[in-house]
Amino acid sequence: MPLSGCSGVQSALDPAGEEAAAIYRLLLVMVMGGALIWLAVVGLLLHAARKQKAPWSEKTAGRLIVWGGVAFPLVVLLALLAYAVWLMPAIRPWLARYAPAPETIEVTGEQFWWRIRYPATDGLPAFETANELRLPIGERVAFSLKAADVIHSFWIPALGGKMDMIPGRTNTLSLLPTKAGVFRAPCAEFCGASHTLMAFSVIVMEQADYAAWRSAQAVGSRAGGGEGEQLFARHGCAGCHGVRGVTPAASLGPDLTLFGQRQTVGAGTLANTAENVARFIRDPAAVKPGAKMPAFDMLPESDIAAIADYLAGLK
Ligand code: CUA
Repeated sequence: MPLSGCSGVQSALDPAGEEAAAIYRLLLVMVMGGALIWLAVVGLLLHAARKQKAPWSEKTAGRLIVWGGVAFPLVVLLALLAYAVWLMPAIRPWLARYAPAPETIEVTGEQFWWRIRYPATDGLPAFETANELRLPIGERVAFSLKAADVIHSFWIPALGGKMDMIPGRTNTLSLLPTKAGVFRAPCAEFCGASHTLMAFSVIVMEQADYAAWRSAQAVGSRAGGGEGEQLFARHGCAGCHGVRGVTPAASLGPDLTLFGQRQTVGAGTLANTAENVARFIRDPAAVKPGAKMPAFDMLPESDIAAIADYLAGLK
């Protein structure tokens, strides 16, 4: 079980960001230092246990207690404390790499998904997306973290973190991705029946790819007038879910602009296939207990399939 944490998309032991790397170094220092001290203590213990008589004179034993039992732990613990405090970016604002991030992405935790708002930039308007965060490699980014209902927690183990999202207040966190890749970020605070089914994907991209993705997102899709698109509007899906460029803005549920590009359905619950989208539409609560979207199993199967195909095609 512990080894399963060493690789893959959700590991704090395979850092892909400045903050995660600092935490990983701290962990190595503590684990290796702890192991050395443990070996020394057990060595002394065995040495003492093997002797019939006391192995040290009273004077030596007294020195061992003062230096080994009081002075040594004091120095080691103070050094570790100083190192850990030094790792907090907030106390080193003069270092260039901890300069304020050029922009702030707003992430809101909702039962049980993630609302993500990118700010306006370089002539592009601000836009909203959901359950998938894309970031450029090598660029510091700040997050403004909120909660719509109960406490959630924002944590991208591969990049650093974590930070609670608390109703009624805004927390901030800044991260610097250093490696391209796809990572998984689970909600890290118990928030209800589907807490464990509340995750988002993080895709760290080359800067040019990121810029292209961002302008495509800001524009959205083009209305094609297909059957799925019409059914999406007629059955009321568009009342809660926005598809930029096609339907009027709606923000009750997750935004679905360019949904076909996303990796998962239901905030990390299922792989994004037309079949799984259909399954989710039919009965969201069966897939994800506590999901607020009502079941649409009264619709004809052909309508559900057409809407699922339409969403899969939003690329
Ligand atoms: Cu949201 Cu746990």
